[in-house]
Amino acid sequence: MFPLVEERSGPLDVSGGCLPWKSRAWAELETARARVLSMLGGLPEEELRRQHSPLMSPLIWDVAHVANYEEQWLLRALGAPAITDPAFDAIYDAFRHPRSTRSQLPLLPPESAFAYARRVREAVREHLHTLPETSTVPLLAGGYVFGMVAQHEQQHAETLAATLQLMTAPEYPVPAARPRPRPGAVPQTEVFIPGGPVRLGSDAAWAYDNERPAFRQHVAPFLMDAHPVTNGDYRVFVESGGYADPRWWPPGAGRSSRPKG
Ligand SMILES: [Fe+2]
Repeated sequence: MFPLVEERSGPLDVSGGCLPWKSRAWAELETARARVLSMLGGLPEEELRRQHSPLMSPLIWDVAHVANYEEQWLLRALGAPAITDPAFDAIYDAFRHPRSTRSQLPLLPPESAFAYARRVREAVREHLHTLPETSTVPLLAGGYVFGMVAQHEQQHAETLAATLQLMTAPEYPVPAARPRPRPGAVPQTEVFIPGGPVRLGSDAAWAYDNERPAFRQHVAPFLMDAHPVTNGDYRVFVESGGYADPRWWPPGAGRSSRPKG
């Protein structure tokens, strides 16, 4: 079993004049890292190295790739000293190597990959303190590049989850989930939304490109369920012939259209 002892740093000290984006950046980075480590912590070293599916990278490739991406953008691109030679980047360049070939690369062994990720993160923590609180430099305005890197690690947590689902052996020890509050009773009724002008999208520094720019849109009045549609609800719709019922389809819609509502 590969021991994973992650020495997580404490919350960023915001008393030293950091703006909220710095606190958020650190919290998002550390949350994403904790998730990745909790997903991989119980796996034997050979399973971290193995290519479980030609569709996915070896799990440990993702770990070092995330660290390398973080080094490139949060250290080198922001003027901090490099931790690795830029030539090292090629191994973890997703555009250069198809996933099915990545197990043949000279990858860092698991212990080294996790150590690399820790070194980068600690250097980022130190460098974050030195960055200006406000900046017109596109990478730093509103902490843009920190949001990009945190979201990158979140996306790789999803990639890792897909790889783990494709893993056939050994049995994967699912990390304990946090207890969730019991949802309150929600009336199974519809709510009338009166419509009107709304602001859609976002201009926030951490918004995805497909959320930009924010714009105003007039929305017609509509009814919306007061609770999420369940599989059981959807089954009733299907079994009652909902797909063939013209009441639930926009006028002139073909078979590929989605039902209304
Ligand atoms: Fe990536």
